[in-house]
Amino acid sequence: MNLIEILNLQVFGDHRGSLISLEEYSECVPFTIKRVYFIFDTKEDVIRGKHAHKNLEQVIVSVSGECDFYVDNGSERAIIKMNHPSKALHIKSMVWREMTNFSKDCVLLVLASEHYDIDDYIFDYDEFLKMVHQIQGDN
Ligand code: TYD
Repeated sequence: MNLIEILNLQVFGDHRGSLISLEEYSECVPFTIKRVYFIFDTKEDVIRGKHAHKNLEQVIVSVSGECDFYVDNGSERAIIKMNHPSKALHIKSMVWREMTNFSKDCVLLVLASEHYDIDDYIFDYDEFLKMVHQIQGDN
């Protein structure tokens, strides 16, 4: 799927438990990690995200609990259930995203290719579509 990449992370497990490692410039994280943040204590009935990024790439993992991740690149749409720490999403630039249906224990870990920059955000869906069409040269 062009829209996003779903990655199956390698789990190192033994009788003590499980471990997953993420390294920059690896198959799973094909960029320099400039920022890490995590989202937790999110209320079940809220929608987070509702934006796209002009340049930012991210790898996202639900390290605990679950939520639904809606992604949209202007022509394709998908809802991915983030319900296991071994499932990661690689989201490139120009993808509209919304996160919903958070379980109480959900912790979303986000690795980002850029520092926080409000000017990289697109908050208006119509503006997002316009920019997608401009990039595709079919406006
Ligand atoms: P917000 O973008 O609303 O989160 P979400 O995409 O999950 O809906 O971010 C919440 C607040 O945190 C907002 O005031 C901006 C701030 N923030 C930072 O200061 N640095 C960051 O790296 C991020 C992601 C958010």
